[in-house]
Amino acid sequence: MSLLSPVEGWYYKKVAKDEKMWMIIALVLCIVLFIWMIMWHVYGKQNPSSTTYRTSTTEFSRLTEAYIKQNMVGMDNGIPIVKPEPNTDIFLMAEMWRWSPVLILQKDQSYKFHISSKDLVHGLSIQPVNMNFQVYPGYDYLLEFKPTESGEYKVICNEFCGIGHHTMIGKIVVIEKEEELKSYGFADLKKPAGRSATKKNEPLSEAEMALMGEQVYTLKGCAACHKTDGTSMIAPGWKGLYGKEEHVIADGKKITVRVDDDYIRESIKNPSNKITVGYENTPMPVMGLTDEEISQVIAYIKTL
Ligand code: CUA
Repeated sequence: MSLLSPVEGWYYKKVAKDEKMWMIIALVLCIVLFIWMIMWHVYGKQNPSSTTYRTSTTEFSRLTEAYIKQNMVGMDNGIPIVKPEPNTDIFLMAEMWRWSPVLILQKDQSYKFHISSKDLVHGLSIQPVNMNFQVYPGYDYLLEFKPTESGEYKVICNEFCGIGHHTMIGKIVVIEKEEELKSYGFADLKKPAGRSATKKNEPLSEAEMALMGEQVYTLKGCAACHKTDGTSMIAPGWKGLYGKEEHVIADGKKITVRVDDDYIRESIKNPSNKITVGYENTPMPVMGLTDEEISQVIAYIKTL
């Protein structure tokens, strides 16, 4: 209740002409903008709308990993390169602090991107086309992407995600002809292992095994401790490791072993059986690799 009652009959007082005019203008503007809002969705040059599905980080990781294994054609600074067929589903994973895989796409072809995060919220920003999306863990963002210009696109993370945020830059290379690959340093791409593996009963060649081992190395996290550039950080480096003699501690005794298939297999399956002298304080976790993956890792180590 107000202090003073309004004057009797105020509600029926006629609205002044100019006031009425402004009300009509405002109403018309509202309606026009509302219609334009819907039309802009179709005709505007904004982010395409994406469809979102619920997923889990483990499920999406599994899919991405399987996808990369099937389609990988090489490595770019430790990140697998995939060259997908047009109109296929692509899996792109954001994690602290990288985008995986590196993609090679054909100009004027459309692709279905599935994007998700392994850990926390990242921001997908494809430059220079300026497409921007938030990438949450637990959601699969399905996005149509049709590059209309060839060149190198950067995938930049535009959501602060920790200490390595500024280094989280992915790559999409769009080409018209295969020859262009050379100028991006992708001259010696291999055939996707998945496709040759589908040839029934044909065992993989050593080179294919090594390539798959390199994938296991990056995808399963071996890379976090084992270096391949000849240095040894918190775990023995892999360069030149195969065939080498190593001093290890087994059952509390110091012995010398030769690094061969059996030794590597044992070291991956039961890391604590034989511990390399000098690394007693950084025990290796049990990685849960399959026998096949271990064989691939061995093939990879042999090439280093
Ligand atoms: Cu990922 Cu910032």
